[in-house]
Amino acid sequence: MKKYSIAWLIVGLSVLLNGLFIYLFIVKGTTVPSTDNRFAIVLTPGERDLVLSEMRAFLSAVQQISQGIANKDMATIKQASQSLGMAATTKVPVSLMGKLPLEFKKLGFGTHEAFDQLAQDMVQMDDTAVALERLPVLLGGCVACHASYQIITDATQVADRNP
Ligand code: HEC
Repeated sequence: MKKYSIAWLIVGLSVLLNGLFIYLFIVKGTTVPSTDNRFAIVLTPGERDLVLSEMRAFLSAVQQISQGIANKDMATIKQASQSLGMAATTKVPVSLMGKLPLEFKKLGFGTHEAFDQLAQDMVQMDDTAVALERLPVLLGGCVACHASYQIITDATQVADRNP
């Protein structure tokens, strides 16, 4: 009997620890309150550089897609969208994924999926006007994430700016 209770205790504890691990690693990420009512995600300088370079790639794709819409150039829209689809997320190391809160990951993956969808629409719908409808929706994801998160490299930055 006693043997069983110890076994259950171990099972219980490991479930609890797993739950805690999942919460900290997948749901919460590494955030602190920011000075401007957003969440500040705390990353290493290298990780921040990686995320921001992805952001500049996002902006560049949006620029190319707008140009494609203006020129009715389906190939450019398709190529720019495809380059930022889900395939682009494989470059993100697991250690960095763990620091990003769940909501951030959802918004990030949602944006990559929206780019994939746009590329697919260009093949299926054969009409650049579709991109004009999709782009503002896609940009809504950029706006939502920027409204909630900023990235810092040192949590004491926030304390310094909040004397
Ligand atoms: C999952 C969240 C998220 C999504 C989605 C997102 N961004 Fe960002 N982006 C951020 C964060 C966080 C920063 C850093 C902001 C800060 O520290 O103040 C940032 C910064 C940027 C920057 C500045 C880059 C630099 O070099 O400083 C650009 C440009 C940018 N984003 C463009 C975009 C565009 C365009 C989209 C949509 C296609 C987009 N972002 C979608 C979170 C996101």
